[in-house]
Amino acid sequence: MRKPMIAGNWKLNKTIAEAKELSGDLAKCLANFTEVDIVIAPVFTALSAVAETIKDTPIKLAAQNCYPEETGAFTGEVSPLMLKDVGCEYVIIGHSERRQLLEESDAFINQKIIKTLEAGLKPIFCIGETLQERENGEMLDVLTTQIKGGLANLSATHMAELVIAYEPVWAIGTGQTATDEQAQEAHSFIRGLLQGMFTKEVALATRILYGGSVKPGNVDGLMAQDDIDGALVGGASLKADDFIRLVRFEKA
Ligand code: PGA
Repeated sequence: MRKPMIAGNWKLNKTIAEAKELSGDLAKCLANFTEVDIVIAPVFTALSAVAETIKDTPIKLAAQNCYPEETGAFTGEVSPLMLKDVGCEYVIIGHSERRQLLEESDAFINQKIIKTLEAGLKPIFCIGETLQERENGEMLDVLTTQIKGGLANLSATHMAELVIAYEPVWAIGTGQTATDEQAQEAHSFIRGLLQGMFTKEVALATRILYGGSVKPGNVDGLMAQDDIDGALVGGASLKADDFIRLVRFEKA
């Protein structure tokens, strides 16, 4: 059985005081909620304060990025080791905003995934096609390239620690969600790719989250799909009430 996960990607939002307030509200309302894995990913500067606020609750801490080296002359970067030190359990890797704005390649993303796993942290590995790629009929090729490149040289043991997030770029922050069927189709395709690259067991055990304008109004339908195991949420994770409603999605 795959345990559902709802992960909030706060992106470039919230001062330390604001992050403490939001995580404090979540900590209060979700203190005993263990049916779903709950993850929040604040900005680097708020990680330490949020780690303190959610201590002794089931809420887990994630970073939004990392650099694939432990220490050294890499000005401005943060390593998985340091993220573990501050209390992170997860790291979001390969988000489409980084792929697009910072031109992160599949090979670089693969290095980050490997270093994150080596540090004992769990990657939330993001993939997804752009609108143009979908319209050109390239969606399946794009997903295949991203999965094969991002997960190169990983073992089945590694895969037990990793979560995939399918986020069609055209649905991120646009209010335009993939339909339940579109999302299910992509998730089922991704699971098939995992079976080809690893084993059937790995494919069946790997959690695949959907991301892209997930809101209280559409979460229940998405979560009712066979191959959708959770959500990676941007906008709706910034308001406590909305995020709590997502975590408490209604089961079909
Ligand atoms: P959104 O962002 O929920 O605001 O569309 C999702 C994401 O980018 O992870």
